[in-house]
Amino acid sequence: MPGPLREMSEDATSSGARPLATRRALRLVLMNGDAARLRADRACLQQVQYRTDANLAARQSIYAHQHPQINLPAAVLDLAALRGDETVADVGCGNGAYLAELSRRHHAGPVVGIDLSTGMLGAARRRAPSAALAAGDAAALPVRDHAASLTLAAHMLYHLPDARAAVRELRRVTRPDGQVLVVLNGDDHLRELRALIAGLQIISREGPLGDQLRLDDGQELLASEFTCVIRHDFTSELRIPGPEPIENYVRSLISIQDQPDSAAVAAAVASHLPTDEGPFRIRTHTGCLVCS
Ligand SMILES: C[S@@+](CC[C@H](N)C(=O)[O-])C[C@H]1O[C@@H](n2cnc3c(N)ncnc32)[C@H](O)[C@@H]1O
Repeated sequence: MPGPLREMSEDATSSGARPLATRRALRLVLMNGDAARLRADRACLQQVQYRTDANLAARQSIYAHQHPQINLPAAVLDLAALRGDETVADVGCGNGAYLAELSRRHHAGPVVGIDLSTGMLGAARRRAPSAALAAGDAAALPVRDHAASLTLAAHMLYHLPDARAAVRELRRVTRPDGQVLVVLNGDDHLRELRALIAGLQIISREGPLGDQLRLDDGQELLASEFTCVIRHDFTSELRIPGPEPIENYVRSLISIQDQPDSAAVAAAVASHLPTDEGPFRIRTHTGCLVCS
């Protein structure tokens, strides 16, 4: 039986609806123009932001302060209700959080992680040694038609210049009776941190944390490409005890790294943390869109 990957493309790195398009265009204008460009700039993603998993790991580590804790890969994979022998493709797998969760569950079917960044794939290899890994672009996946029963795209569709084309690729590689699970952030995700940064007027209001494609937009986009889209929201809060987690988080952001002195910007944000009223509380809101 052929594997999920296309033979010739183990290393395939070579490469709507009006209301949604209008909203995205407006958001791009509202965002710092540079931030919007950087989020979808392939070279910047590969060579700077995701050259290694250091930036992503810095952002992931802030969730140690989440109350109640949400194990997002576990919660998302629970929604897929896998038997254990299905072929799974994790597109934009990053440092392998979902691959590691599949391995922890002793998933026996073929699993492939695909990412634009070979540095990320190196980190994924350490966390999920049994998964197949391939460098590739979500816009042109190195995967056969209908190869996967479950295709994941977690926190990555907002990096695509043409998210609709990428959604069609996700659909192409997924069996007609399979599922595509897309994870995106809600509008109010990290609202208090956005407000803290905006209040300092160091960078534009939407720049550092405004995803180009949020949960509502993603739901609308996916509903126009799939027969059925079921949305599951996960809300919680971060209780940040002091400046260090904020400084590390802010320093890891794409648009902050584009600033002349990103470390100073991150330190400035962290130094304005209101700590006299107990931990700084930041809401988290992520959603999973189950598409079939
Ligand atoms: C925010 S991380 C999410 C990683 C992982 N899915 C998770 O949720 O932990 C985004 C990942 O998408 C990858 N990525 C960005 N653009 C991509 C593209 N066009 N094709 C494939 N991967 C891409 C990045 O290299 C990065 O590893």
